[in-house]
Amino acid sequence: MIDNNTMLLMIPGPVNTHPKIYAAMSRPLIGHRTPEFKELYNETLNLFKKLIDTKNDVFIFTGSSTSAMDSAIANLVQPGDKVLNIIQGKFSERWYDITKAYGGNSIVLNIEWGRALREEPLIEILDKNKDIKFITICHNETSTGILNPAEKIGKIAREYDKILIVDGVTSVGGDYVYPDKWNFDILVTGSQKCLGIPPGLGFIMVGSRAWEIINNRTTIPSYYVNLPLYKQWFEERGDTPFTPSVPLIAAQNISLKMMFEEGFDNRVKRHRRMAKATREGAKALGLELFAEEEFASNTVTAIKTPPKLKSKEIIEKMKELGILIAGGQGKIKNKIFRIAHMNIVQEKDILITFSALELSLRKLGFSFPQGSGVSAVEQVFEKDS
Ligand SMILES: Cc1ncc(COP(=O)(O)O)c(C=O)c1O
Repeated sequence: MIDNNTMLLMIPGPVNTHPKIYAAMSRPLIGHRTPEFKELYNETLNLFKKLIDTKNDVFIFTGSSTSAMDSAIANLVQPGDKVLNIIQGKFSERWYDITKAYGGNSIVLNIEWGRALREEPLIEILDKNKDIKFITICHNETSTGILNPAEKIGKIAREYDKILIVDGVTSVGGDYVYPDKWNFDILVTGSQKCLGIPPGLGFIMVGSRAWEIINNRTTIPSYYVNLPLYKQWFEERGDTPFTPSVPLIAAQNISLKMMFEEGFDNRVKRHRRMAKATREGAKALGLELFAEEEFASNTVTAIKTPPKLKSKEIIEKMKELGILIAGGQGKIKNKIFRIAHMNIVQEKDILITFSALELSLRKLGFSFPQGSGVSAVEQVFEKDS
């Protein structure tokens, strides 16, 4: 029996959400132009800024993460500006698509999917193209399960005096992301991943070097995600130019508070343990990881689909057992399946997932010593507890 109401969401967003979040969302609505809302909004922004330890401006759009990506490029990139798009998966590729949509002159640095960006190719392309103005990158490439060395990339971008635009959609809230210390000029994220609430909020952090560019523009080809407009409204009135999703802001406020109650270091440690258990469980089943392990994501693991099986069959069997996992995207659609471990994920979720994965794989004729995956997961939890 497939019951979507009780499905365990092991996909990279939307994620399982704590009952306290649903409770926050179902409170009676407050007006979005009231002092109560302004207080809630301001507090939520400050909690978010504390999470990423930034002194920069942050704005929240009512839209998915892509609204914040769109805002970054619309506000910064002028037609003809040279933008280095580092592509190493489906989401880093989205920066390229948006760059083109706004007339940016894109140069692409293609990195093999499943591999991290190293310093050398970045330095090489920056040396060859002195007129690059912006660099776009995806910190945690959800489609391949890679976590890029963002701090090193930020250092290079700053040395070369480039504006660094970072997608932190599946890292912020689940792993350390420190834009001020790591020299990010723009950081974007969304609500439905490691920030722990349903989809519908896009976040953007804007640093002073980015503002300098924005403030020197005569027109910005965006109305809904126009950053100067958001800044003006916030500074003059303490709220947003357009009606925000009040229930989602209330939910985000609670979710951020819960992160600090757990302790952010503890939260990151928990995500890392879940990721490690997932990787060890997969390897023990004789499966191969898609991403190079040295740079494996702590929030999502991509696993190669065994040659005789189809990703969608594995996903279907898992779903019948009450667990939703994800397939591949883009050119690796049928080559991998992905298990995410974000937000409130804990030991029991990984144990159940691996028990179901073993059963699903066996039903599909893939053989391995029974219990080997679950046992490897248990060993990680035994050691690291
Ligand atoms: C890294 C990354 N960037 C961007 C997005 C797009 O987010 P949204 O669907 O919220 O617009 C996703 C969604 O999975 C993502 O994982």
